[in-house]
Amino acid sequence: MNLNKENILALLEEIIHPEFEKNIVELGMIENIDISDNEISFSILPKRQQDPFAASIKKKCEQLLSEKFSSVTVKITERGKRQNTANREQTQTNYALKDVKHIVAIMSGKGGVGKSTISSNLAVTLANRGFKTGLTDADIYGPSIPQMFGVQNSQPMMVKVDDIELIEPVESYGVKLMSISFFINHAEALIWRAPMATSALRQLAGGTYWGELDFLLIDFPPGTGDIHITMTQELNLDGIIIVTTPQPVALADAIRGINMFGHEKINVPILGLVENMAWFTPDELPENRYYIFGMNGGKKLAAEKQIPFLAEIPIVQSIRQSGDDGIPAVCTSDIQAKVFDELADNFLKQIK
Ligand SMILES: Nc1ncnc2c1ncn2[C@@H]1O[C@H](COP(=O)(O)OP(=O)(O)OP(=O)(O)O)[C@@H](O)[C@H]1O
Ligand SMILES: [Mg+2]
Repeated sequence: MNLNKENILALLEEIIHPEFEKNIVELGMIENIDISDNEISFSILPKRQQDPFAASIKKKCEQLLSEKFSSVTVKITERGKRQNTANREQTQTNYALKDVKHIVAIMSGKGGVGKSTISSNLAVTLANRGFKTGLTDADIYGPSIPQMFGVQNSQPMMVKVDDIELIEPVESYGVKLMSISFFINHAEALIWRAPMATSALRQLAGGTYWGELDFLLIDFPPGTGDIHITMTQELNLDGIIIVTTPQPVALADAIRGINMFGHEKINVPILGLVENMAWFTPDELPENRYYIFGMNGGKKLAAEKQIPFLAEIPIVQSIRQSGDDGIPAVCTSDIQAKVFDELADNFLKQIK
C-alpha cells in the first residue's frame, strides 16, 4: 500500500466512533495530515469535549497505521480536549454562548427540593445587581421556569445573527429566559428518550441568542443521568450548585450528585450546596423555626464533603405563593431578598 493521504484516510475509515456509530473520517475528526519521509502526523479533533473514547480511538489509529506502514512513526495530537470560555465559538452550536462568561448549572439528585425556585431567585438577584443574567430551563420533563416568571404564554422570536438562525430569549424581571415549554406541549416531551431530550436541550442553550452574559444559569432536571453528563460536558460548565433539603432521602441523592460531578471524568467544580426548606417559619410567628425535615442536614453534608455551604433557605408560604403567581420571591419581600442576597454573595465568592 502506498503511503499517501488517500490511503491513510481509507484506513482510518475503518475506525468507528462507538458513541456516534460513524467512522472517524466521516465525523470530521481527522485534521492536518502530514506525511514526511518516515513520519505520518495528524490531529484528532474529539467530537465533543472530554470524549471518553478519544484515547482508545487514538490508540486504534496508531495500531492500524503502524501495522500497514511499519517503517514510519505515527504522531497524533489530540486537539481541543477541553475548550475554555475564550474559544467556545469553535462550533456552531456554541456560537450563541461565545459571549457568555460563566455557565453554572443548578442540580439536585431528588426532585422537588427547590432547584427552580433557587435558580429563578438567584438569577433575579444577580440581574438586580447589574449582572447580565440568563436562565435556561433544562427540565425537559417538568419545565417550571416560565410559570415562575409569569411568561408561560410567551412565544420567542427567531433572529438571524451573522447568518445563523437563533432564538431570541424571553426577558422577565431583567433575566433572559429560555425553556422547552415555549415550543412544545408537556405531554409530548414526557415520552422523549434521553438522546431526544438532550438534543432539544442542546438547541435551547446553544441555539439561543444570549448575547453578552455574565452568568447563564441552567436549571437541570432532577437526578444524575445521561442528560446531566452530556449537558455538563457539552456546555463546558464552570460549576454546579447542588440543592438539597435536610432530610436523609434528599441528602443521599445529593451525595450521588456530588460524587458524579466530582468524578475525574466529569470533574466540574462544585461551587457549593444550598440547603432549601431548612426550617419552616409561619408568617404569624416569624421568630419561630420548625425543623420539619431535620436540622442542618445540608450544612453537615457540605462540611463532610468539604464543599462550600452557600445558603440555608427556610420554607415560607410566600416563596411557594410567589412561584405560583409568577413573581420571583425576592421581588415580593425584603426578608426573601435578604436570604437570596446571602446566596448571591457566597456564589459570587466561589465563581470569581
Ligand atoms: N423555600 C421554600 N419555601 C416554600 N416553598 C418552596 C420553597 N422552595 C420551593 N418551594 C415550593 O416547592 C415546590 C417545588 O419547588 P421547585 O419547583 O423549585 O423544585 P424543583 O427542585 O425545581 O422541582 P423539580 O424536581 O420538579 O424540578 C414549588 O411549589 C415551590 O414553590
Ligand atoms: Mg424544577
